[in-house]
This record gives sequence, C-alpha cells and structure tokens, in this order.
Amino acid sequence: MTNPWLAIPLTDYEGHMASPAVGQAEMLANEFEALLKSYAPKAVALVGCAGGNGFDKAAEAGVTRLVGIDINAGYIADAKNRYADTIPGLELHCADIQGDMPDLQAVELVYAALVFEYVDVPVALRNISRLCRSNGLLAVLLQLPKQGADAVTPSSFASLKELSFIMRLVPPGDLVHSAEAAGFASLSQKTITLQSGKQFSLQLFRLTSSCPQDAEAISAARGHDPT
Ligand SMILES: C[S@@+](CC[C@H](N)C(=O)[O-])C[C@H]1O[C@@H](n2cnc3c(N)ncnc32)[C@H](O)[C@@H]1O
Repeated sequence: MTNPWLAIPLTDYEGHMASPAVGQAEMLANEFEALLKSYAPKAVALVGCAGGNGFDKAAEAGVTRLVGIDINAGYIADAKNRYADTIPGLELHCADIQGDMPDLQAVELVYAALVFEYVDVPVALRNISRLCRSNGLLAVLLQLPKQGADAVTPSSFASLKELSFIMRLVPPGDLVHSAEAAGFASLSQKTITLQSGKQFSLQLFRLTSSCPQDAEAISAARGHDPT
C-alpha cells in the first residue's frame, strides 16, 4: 500500500491543522519554541517537518543548523521555497524515517511531533538515535486517545481521511520502553489539552548510549563480545 502521506496536498494538511476544530498547528510550533528557549540548541532536526511549521521559531531562537526531514518530496520542496532564502543553515531531506536514512551529521535536539503515529516506532527510534548527538535531546509529541472522537478529526479536507488506515496512537508508556531500547533515557512528560478537548503527550528524552544494535555491530567489527 502506498503511504497516504504521499497523496495529501500540503494545502490540505495545513488547512486541516489550522481549522478551528483541529487547531493543532500553532500548538506544535509553540511547544517547539518552548524547547528552543529552554535548551538553546544550535543544531536541530524536525522529523516529519511537513511544510516547515515551526521553522521560523528556530530562526528566531538562533539555531544555526536546521534539518527538516519528511517522506513527502512535495512538502520538502514547498518548505525549501518558503524558507531557503531566510533561514541560513537549512538542510532539507526527503527521507523515510523508518527506512534507509541519509547519513547526516548529528544534532543536539530532534523534535518529532505527530509522526510516531504513522511509523514503526522502534525502527524510527533507531534511526533517530543516529541523528541525535550523544547526550542530545529527543522531544516527541504524541496524540492521546479521546473517548468518542475519531483519531483524525473530521474536516472538509477529504484527502486526510486516508490517514485513518495507517494511524495508530502510541501509548506514552510504550514510547518510553522503545526509546530506552534505542538508548534514550526519559527526562520528562507533560500533557497538553487543546480547547477542543483533544490531548497530547510531550515527552523529552536524552540519548545516553548508542543504540544497542549499533553497539553490537561496532563490537563485532572490533572482534569482541559487547556484553
Ligand atoms: C501529522 S504531520 C506532522 C507535521 C509537523 N510535525 C507539524 O508540525 O505540522 C506528520 C508528518 O510526518 C510525515 N511522515 C509520515 N510518515 C513519515 C515517515 N515514515 N518518514 C518521514 N516523514 C513521515 C508526513 O509526511 C507529515 O508531514
């Protein structure tokens, strides 16, 4: 099955996120801004960056290297048109976070907002652990379930409906387990509630060790047992 994200026009996605019933675009950018203010990283990556929601916050906060990654080449092209001239140090990559990722220089903060709902979590975390510097931070924003409500809020943008076939809400506790297996230690968690009543979990992790599978591969290459 083709990934539905590849068939959703950016105008539909952004129209949906900004619509009053959804109202999530601003919250996602504001949470990113708060992280930038708290930790002042110079090199940052947004995984599942769409058209660059929040990129302006990074520029204002003095980020000197901003990496945007998204599976949809059209989104990446639009983000480039919007920001390439105004954000120095912008690197945009069309890539699948659960597939073969380009070999990128690691960053101090990775922000992954509403993307784990669409990927194989352990696989994506393994890739993200390679994108994150040792002792670097990973901030993950997850959607929480709301009783009696569709996971994808109905809106006038019909193309978004296809997402319900692949979207899986990730329990925050499951994310912690998978993140720990990928070498991250959990630092904090907070719940965000929108006016609509929809809730989100923002979880912060620090990369404390390289991915165990990487460690095994490195040890095997050196000819000794990692344990
Ligand atoms: C719900 S949107 C979140 C967008 C963004 N974080 C924001 O602030 O609006 C999910 C984004 O993740 C991207 N995405 C989905 N699966 C992906 C994958 N496997 N690898 C990279 N990006 C992916 C989609 O194309 C989309 O832009």
